[in-house]
Amino acid sequence: MPRMANCGGSWVEVDLGRLRANAQAIQASLNGAGLMAVVKADAYGHGLASVAAGLAEAGVTRFAVAYVAEAATVRAAVPAAELILVLGVAAPADVPQMRRERITPVVVSREHGQALSAAAVAAGGLLGVHVKLDTGMGRLGFVCPAETEQAAELARLPGLEVQGVCTHFAMVEPMKKPTAARGQAEKFRQAVPLIEAAAGQRLFQHLSSSRAALLLTECDADAVRVGLALYGYGAADAGQRFATVPVLQWKSRVMQVKSVPAGFAVGYYGSYKTSGPTQLATISCGYTDGYQRHLGNRGHVLIRGRRRPVVGRVSMNWISADLGPDSGVQAGDEVVLIGEQGPERVWADELARHCGTIPYEILTGISRQIERRYVGG
Ligand SMILES: Cc1ncc(COP(=O)(O)O)c(C=O)c1O
Repeated sequence: MPRMANCGGSWVEVDLGRLRANAQAIQASLNGAGLMAVVKADAYGHGLASVAAGLAEAGVTRFAVAYVAEAATVRAAVPAAELILVLGVAAPADVPQMRRERITPVVVSREHGQALSAAAVAAGGLLGVHVKLDTGMGRLGFVCPAETEQAAELARLPGLEVQGVCTHFAMVEPMKKPTAARGQAEKFRQAVPLIEAAAGQRLFQHLSSSRAALLLTECDADAVRVGLALYGYGAADAGQRFATVPVLQWKSRVMQVKSVPAGFAVGYYGSYKTSGPTQLATISCGYTDGYQRHLGNRGHVLIRGRRRPVVGRVSMNWISADLGPDSGVQAGDEVVLIGEQGPERVWADELARHCGTIPYEILTGISRQIERRYVGG
């Protein structure tokens, strides 16, 4: 009688010890600049509150998010955080909450600044803000140099205290060549004195995200806003300024193992046929969980310390792996979808290559409904 696994869904394991070590490795490399941890998108799928609290234990005091609601989660998790910056467009209606919870929005345009100013005056006090400059990203912010003067005028609006200024690189090319990023940095450097003169004080300056923090050390300024590298991607090279390791593993279980003959069709439309007698494992996870359909007939999972090809199409809730004959695999065995097992590894950047995307999308695409378990605390 084959063993049956009463199998729930997959789960994510986040190693807070590794996260803290990554944060400390980055911080130690920065020669005085601060680390601002980018924890938007539920901390890149790792779970916002637990990640923020874990980072605080590693000495991180500054955080960046996309929304005010995320900022409030960080404030609850890290009451003493020095800075919680909203990188998106905070609404004037959120000004009372931002003042109460010491949440700092960026200001992206004259109209945005005026609306926040009016809301702060109505709320009877000051709101600290950072000015966001668009030096070449073509996304949010005052276009430099055309709108630098408008950005400086923010400092004269009642209710706002301009405390910081930032920009974001569109592209950080490999070292050596003159880079587009250096051109952006130059525009930033030219704009900052005008805004500081209007504000009447030195402003807190930040430009770099992970790749620039690694490659453009002259752009550290007061803080670097690091996301991806903190979670262990894009910074694996021990010869570089800092090296980090992946923090998140995604695991599941084998639900059923069956022995099948050669020529056996697997999954919708039978896109895979076994080449000889073999065993198939059915595994609990599918595209509804964020395991992308591109991984069908391309990706690998790890079972009993070995790589096993994902065969056939990815279904909504299940995938199949070809185990080969006499695998010894049994229902209930642990499956690694992202992570390491024995000598083998499958990280999110490998899945991203199969899917024609980037590890950011793989990590943030893991369904929020999947349980996050924290280890290494
Ligand atoms: C404005 C801004 N700063 C920093 C980051 C962090 O980038 P990375 O994850 O590459 O470090 C992002 C990421 O999307 C961002 O939008």
